[in-house]
Amino acid sequence: MTHSSPFLSNDALLEQLRAAEPTLWCNPDYAPQRDDEAQAGLQQAVENWRMLAPLLQLIFPELEDTAGTITSDLIEVDALRAPLGYLDRTFGRLFVKADHALPVAGSVKARGGIYEVLMTAVNEARSSGFIAPTDPVSALTGAAAHSFFAERTIAVGSTGNLGLSVGIAARTLGYNAVVHMSADAKPWKIERLRRFGVKVKQHRGDYNLAVSAARDAASKDPMVYFVDDEDSELLFSGYSAAALELASQLIEAGINIGPDCPLFLYLPCGIGGAPGGIAYGARGVFGSNVHCFFAEPVQSPSAMVQMMHGLEKPMSVYDIGLTNKTEADGMAVATMSHIVAQKMQQRLAGVYTVGDDDLMRLLSIAYGAANLKLEPSATIGFAGPHFMLETAQGQAFSSQHLTPKAMENAIHVVWTTGGSFVPELQFQSFVDKGNALAPQFDLKKG
Ligand SMILES: Cc1ncc(COP(=O)(O)O)c(C=O)c1O
Repeated sequence: MTHSSPFLSNDALLEQLRAAEPTLWCNPDYAPQRDDEAQAGLQQAVENWRMLAPLLQLIFPELEDTAGTITSDLIEVDALRAPLGYLDRTFGRLFVKADHALPVAGSVKARGGIYEVLMTAVNEARSSGFIAPTDPVSALTGAAAHSFFAERTIAVGSTGNLGLSVGIAARTLGYNAVVHMSADAKPWKIERLRRFGVKVKQHRGDYNLAVSAARDAASKDPMVYFVDDEDSELLFSGYSAAALELASQLIEAGINIGPDCPLFLYLPCGIGGAPGGIAYGARGVFGSNVHCFFAEPVQSPSAMVQMMHGLEKPMSVYDIGLTNKTEADGMAVATMSHIVAQKMQQRLAGVYTVGDDDLMRLLSIAYGAANLKLEPSATIGFAGPHFMLETAQGQAFSSQHLTPKAMENAIHVVWTTGGSFVPELQFQSFVDKGNALAPQFDLKKG
């Protein structure tokens, strides 16, 4: 089934997508509203994170200062407005939610991967009687706990960053860890994992193939727990708690999100778990006043392809002739998660795509003007305000969903999802690549 869009017809959008041109799709089923289910889900996630905090504080010394919480800064980035072309006051205010600098894993995946590993550790320790249900989770450190976990394995499929967060958390507790990686995984991520004692299995195929190979291998051994990125409620839940953190940072900054001061979140999307979880939590906190957009590379728009076509059958980027090849390894995913697609059906405002050259331009600008160290995937959110304000689709979206003039007060939050752990030489090569390109953004052409 295809939807009839009040904006561009799906056929016209599909043609643009097939041609790998930057595209904004606004969701015709979008229903921004108060969301009790999302609020309850978010509350549960926040309580679980609180329960885990004493254990996190013990196993990761870098979390001592934050009492075992994994948080990132919210930074207003005025220095980026001119180089991005967002100086006009109609662009509202521009912020970065700096998950690229998250402790332990250096990416947004810390929020999902570490949560799922620790929740699993607590569940396994309780269900096997290693600790009593009333024992504090801080009992899961020390030699006996280490030996208990060493009899078990945690496995995951990953383009890189999920593997890092799951692998590091699992090894730190004492588990064996196996990470199945896609062909496009960056060598530095593989090396880093091996340094932590994680077993890395590289596959020739793409990400979805690595995940299914990992699932198959795990299903044969009852002592292996598989973190299933295509189908994990726990990962999704872990990410969702970020929305409450953002809400308190906005309040601290004196910003009251409401109908006249709407919040826009621009979320890099691969399989959909991280952006979906955050968008879900945000709907729970901000109700109808938040608008979440997923952002994807022009060759890997898995969420756009799926959401445009409805949820009856899985759709991949290969089905419309795209290659799934991108420098943005975290987003090199051909088919999105079905459970995320379901949860986003009415909650997601839309999806846009950006080409790799523009990602490199954004990376160089973010570093040169604001000293942000991002990996290519993590830069894509900076294109969000352009799509909202400078395209006919974006303007139609505002007329439909915002009160007049609200856009001028909008708070644009670019979720920068990874990069602080990228080795210096690799990072410099990204910056050089961006600087060597002609300055004109491809997405602003035409
Ligand atoms: C830096 C970065 N950003 C965004 C994503 C997308 O997250 P998800 O695959 O959960 O949609 C990833 C995934 O690995 C990533 O590494």
